[in-house]
Amino acid sequence: MGNITIKNLTFAYPGQSPLFDHCQLSIDGSWKLGLLGRNGRGKTTLMKILLGQLEFQGQVQSNLPFTYFPQPITDPDTLAWEALSDDNPQLEQWQVERELRLMEVDPVLLWQPFATLSGGEQTKLLLAALFARPGSFPLLDEPTNHLDQRGRRQVAEYLQNKQQGFIITSHDQSFLDQVIDHTLVIERHQLVLERGNYSTYFAQKKRRDQQAVSRNEQLHADIKRLRSAKQQRLQWAQRAEHEKRNNSHADKGFIGAKAAKMMKKSLTMTRRLDQVASDKEGLLQEVEDIVPLTLNQLSSTHPTLLELDRVGLTISGHQLFDNLSFKVNPHDCVLLTGDNGSGKSSLIKAITGQPVDQVTGAITLAHGTKVSLVRQQYANQHGSLTAFAQHNHLPIDQLLNMLRKLGMERASFTTSINQMSMGQQKKVELARSLLTPAQLYIWDEPLNYLDTYNQEQLIQLIKQEHPTMLIIEHDQHFIDEVATKRVTI
Ligand SMILES: Nc1ncnc2c1ncn2[C@@H]1O[C@H](COP(=O)(O)OP(=O)(O)OP(=O)(O)O)[C@@H](O)[C@H]1O
Ligand SMILES: [Mg+2]
Repeated sequence: MGNITIKNLTFAYPGQSPLFDHCQLSIDGSWKLGLLGRNGRGKTTLMKILLGQLEFQGQVQSNLPFTYFPQPITDPDTLAWEALSDDNPQLEQWQVERELRLMEVDPVLLWQPFATLSGGEQTKLLLAALFARPGSFPLLDEPTNHLDQRGRRQVAEYLQNKQQGFIITSHDQSFLDQVIDHTLVIERHQLVLERGNYSTYFAQKKRRDQQAVSRNEQLHADIKRLRSAKQQRLQWAQRAEHEKRNNSHADKGFIGAKAAKMMKKSLTMTRRLDQVASDKEGLLQEVEDIVPLTLNQLSSTHPTLLELDRVGLTISGHQLFDNLSFKVNPHDCVLLTGDNGSGKSSLIKAITGQPVDQVTGAITLAHGTKVSLVRQQYANQHGSLTAFAQHNHLPIDQLLNMLRKLGMERASFTTSINQMSMGQQKKVELARSLLTPAQLYIWDEPLNYLDTYNQEQLIQLIKQEHPTMLIIEHDQHFIDEVATKRVTI
């Protein structure tokens, strides 16, 4: 296996501040390397640089044959095997089937139209196709999104057993812990390499952050002291000047000289104090903290906001489930779980009145209940944040404020939504839901693409505000923290 050597890498998208600023890096191609960093810090961009898709300054040396996941599918309406092999003519069917079996997936999926497979099934097929190509070096960009718990476990074991290196990003901590042996973190426009898995990295990061917090406190105290000393100096100088002007009988020459001397000394001193204070400000370190979120919840007088009575769903003649009954009462946080392809997102469509093939039983949404959605698919969003705010009847200042709380940098506010990073696009979708006045929140896989700080913010928000919610999610840690009721399809 080869290596990757990066020297003096500097990169910025046009009109934006640099994502990478004179970065150095040396990686061994046999490592299972986790690429970490908050949303928008440049993980996907770094992969694109390795793939040779972006122009940059500096050097990237490697002889590794990089392949990117998720690879685009040109014709998703044909059978999955045809869709995959049309895009990769060198692919052998038996090799893809072998990889699928290693993931405990039935190769019969290859004979279903690609577009009709669930998100998790598509993920597994794309992974199998990627690893079936001998000698490729995978760059796996968030393969855990859309995977159910079983899928995540299967893929984690699959990657654990691979005798080859790869680079992987994911915001699922426990998944990463099972899979990686090195971490590469994008922090303050630099690439920081560490040995170990996510937990090792996170424990070190916590220690560093704690040290930074106490150092910052000391620096803030110093800065305050320096600024008030400067203020005092200025007052002395003014007083001396005042005395000179008002003391008409005394020896003007003597007082004038004294005042001038004092004034000069004070000015030199204030300049020096100013310099020391700004130097100290420069030493202040960025520490990520969990900023509390808010939502715009309306009260409801109904004892039950949503009731499902023996609901069944059939799509293309295929029955997904039957006899599903549950209630969502005020302040319930109902977690709906079920394997990939079990019909969870279709059920949400049926609840929100979008067309679905065939629904049996009764779905009752209490009269006048306003629903705020986080959708799983929101790729149709484009244009500026201002246009988005107008379209959704949201005050732009509130939208930007919410995005800041979710950790989006101000510099990204002018980026058009379709050019934003995956996590930033998700923040926009989430911010819309948080700001929309509603009695009931229905969120379909809210954690996909969001970084771990956002996950903690959402947990804190739900625990504090107890909004009435119906959530589909696969992340066990999140479910355990927020669920008041669990429903399995
Ligand atoms: N084509 C583009 N034009 C302008 N800005 C872009 C473009 N692509 C990405 N960006 C910006 O560059 C930054 C890094 O994006 P990137 O997709 O690399 O982030 P990421 O670390 O992969 O984030 P995520 O965790 O959300 O996937 C973001 O601020 C994004 O808005
Ligand atoms: Mg990304």
